[in-house]
Amino acid sequence: MRKFDFLVGLMIVLLAASPVCAGPLVIKFAHVVAVDTPKGQAAEYFKKLVEERSKGEIKVEVYPNASLYDDRAALEAITMNALQMAAPSFSKFTTFVPQLELFDLPFLFNDNDHLHKVLNGDVGQKLLKMVEKKGIVGMAYWDNGFKQMSANKPLIKPEDAAGLKFRIMSSKVLEAQFKALNANPQVLPFSEVYSALQQGVVDACENPLSNFYTQKFYEVQKDLTMTNHGYLGYMVVASKLFWKKLSDPQRELITQAMKESTVYANKLAVELDEKYLGEIKTAGTTVIDLTQEQRQAWKDKLMAIYPEFYDSIGKDLIEGALAAGK
Ligand code: LMR
Repeated sequence: MRKFDFLVGLMIVLLAASPVCAGPLVIKFAHVVAVDTPKGQAAEYFKKLVEERSKGEIKVEVYPNASLYDDRAALEAITMNALQMAAPSFSKFTTFVPQLELFDLPFLFNDNDHLHKVLNGDVGQKLLKMVEKKGIVGMAYWDNGFKQMSANKPLIKPEDAAGLKFRIMSSKVLEAQFKALNANPQVLPFSEVYSALQQGVVDACENPLSNFYTQKFYEVQKDLTMTNHGYLGYMVVASKLFWKKLSDPQRELITQAMKESTVYANKLAVELDEKYLGEIKTAGTTVIDLTQEQRQAWKDKLMAIYPEFYDSIGKDLIEGALAAGK
């Protein structure tokens, strides 16, 4: 009997110490867009790299389409390590780091090169550090693309937007942007936009083309103007509590996979933007190109809001970002 007790005890100790028994380390990665978007695909790519290279030691569970959390809830969950990773758009960080609203400023970036200079330069580094102070690890920036405005009427002059209810992400800059057009901004989670457009809760919205197409907004928006007025991108973040628990080799593996996934995401963002422009036209939404003068009228109207954000975002950050484009 004694011998039996001893053997059972020994087995328990051995099983508890065994790595097989411990099971894989699970990273839950939540996002709100479709799988066929730059972010959706890059999250899948990251999963593939991490799982292959860790030989099953680390498992990445990707939850697309807000199936686990919307962005607000995801950021809360990350601070508690109920969620390990997410990639919310910059506008979703308002309550944590209002300076990230820099990226919402209309007509701030001339093109992708200008944007990348800012993200990969001092301004981008400063912002990652600001996020770190909030108990979140800022890992990378992933592109989506420039936003286009859509409605059920052609938006050609800034005055055409007056009186329309525009869905916005939770950002003071985006609120000011639509107020400057005498439109009515309404904050809604991404997952509710289609039904809000369908039911007339809102009339109009602004999205990069991959989100417009994959959410089927072409079914509920007749006209889309290539305003290219603002940028939508992401900060990929991880829970600090989770990050601290990793071993050095695990952290290195994840960091390297993230580097490669970022290259992948940004290349795909350009490709999908082009691809979905064609698909949107085929789906029946009228795509309107603005002349240089028409676009200038939108610029004049919308860039006038910058001084309102000199305090909350920082004049130095805004000027630093503008200077990178000269
Ligand atoms: C939105 O809410 O419109 C975006 O943040 C969605 C996304 O993640 O691209």
